[in-house]
Amino acid sequence: MSVSVTQAIRGSFFDLTSTVTTPEQLPQCARYIEDGLLLLDGGNIVSLQTWQEGRHQLADERMVTDYRGKLIIPGFVDTHIHYPQTEMIGAFGEQLLEWLQQYTFPVESQYHCPQHAAKMSSFFLQQLLSNGTTTALVFGTVHPQSVEALFSAAETLNMRLIAGKVMMDRNAPDTLTETPEQSYQQTRELIERWHNRGRLSYALTPRFAPTSSPELLARVCQLKKEYPDIWLHTHLSENPQEVAWVKALFPDHEGYLDVYHQYQLTGRRSVFAHCLHLEDKEWDCLHHTDSAVAFCPTSNLFLGSGLFNLKTCWKKRVRLGIGTDVGAGTTFNMLKTLGEAYKVGQLQHYKLAACEAFYHATLGGAQALDLHDRIGNFMPGKEADFVVLDPMVSALQRMRYASSGDIWEKLFVLMTLGDDRNIASTWVNGQCRWSLNHEEQAA
Ligand code: GUN
Ligand code: ZN
Repeated sequence: MSVSVTQAIRGSFFDLTSTVTTPEQLPQCARYIEDGLLLLDGGNIVSLQTWQEGRHQLADERMVTDYRGKLIIPGFVDTHIHYPQTEMIGAFGEQLLEWLQQYTFPVESQYHCPQHAAKMSSFFLQQLLSNGTTTALVFGTVHPQSVEALFSAAETLNMRLIAGKVMMDRNAPDTLTETPEQSYQQTRELIERWHNRGRLSYALTPRFAPTSSPELLARVCQLKKEYPDIWLHTHLSENPQEVAWVKALFPDHEGYLDVYHQYQLTGRRSVFAHCLHLEDKEWDCLHHTDSAVAFCPTSNLFLGSGLFNLKTCWKKRVRLGIGTDVGAGTTFNMLKTLGEAYKVGQLQHYKLAACEAFYHATLGGAQALDLHDRIGNFMPGKEADFVVLDPMVSALQRMRYASSGDIWEKLFVLMTLGDDRNIASTWVNGQCRWSLNHEEQAA
């Protein structure tokens, strides 16, 4: 059998070869190849094997991109982030509801301007790539032009991205609210234009229950029925005052999640960010509807929202991904985010091993987005999205990495000490889209 190979990459590789239902299954699915060869055919993966096995398939060894000394892993998947909040990251002093009023809404008001949206979209995507993130589930603002700009910029880079315009019709400034009918029409137009175009997909994005009237939620439900393969992206149970507010606004519902559930917004392509204060029956509902959650450790700590319970999430068999949740989250960097996730675990006596952490940030996140048949590891046929990590970019990292015994310790040191300096290159659909050296040369 002859396969077409357009590119070959040599280096150390780590990935997780299949999805799991318990963390105990993870070590068996982990694959580490110290001297490996990844073969690509255009934007897709042909094979990953050892250098010794694979080199014979090469017509010419000079075609190899040599990353020896680096660790190559699947591109990071960020399952919850707000691109318009990039410019307000690190806003001081408030918890969720005041933070929204004081910082978020004023910043989001600027996205009626297409030029501003275009400038920030391109900055945002550069931030993702320079941090090794190749796929994200992204909030826009209420303005259709915000999402138009983001999708246009992502299309140029051929990134796999899911995004949507915010839908909201109450409890926000007039400049950011719309009628349910407008929300429906504008969302529909965006779906028609962008959903399933190349690697782009659309997510219905009601901000959260407090900014949604029953009429708006009915319109979201209508769109979900009209486009059954669409994603749904919103916030759930992040902050105690928010949870109490939802109960007051929707007294006829059994709880926060029940508001979404009654409008048929739960399901396999529904992603709920935060989920910090859920009742047992809400976890069960997430499981029964096959909904997914986004764990956003830096945001949850920064806004003082609470501690996500990983143990319960596994026990309830709910699919999970990691979200940076910029701008409530304090970094675009998944290594730093995993380091914070570990500390959230420690505060609850949960030991988040590197194997599990990197699973959530790659294949697990892909599964939470229902994209695991396309991205998340180096299996043949998958899309070639990956990140080249330089594990030793400082004296401290060189010392600590050298004293690390096995790949588990090396990965754990990376998620504890790592940051954007460790992202040497980022490849999207078989093309190198970001490289630390190039940026340094350009600077
Ligand atoms: N809940 C509703 N809107 C937001 C938002 O923009 N960020 C966060 N973290 N939570 C929200
Ligand atoms: Zn958010």
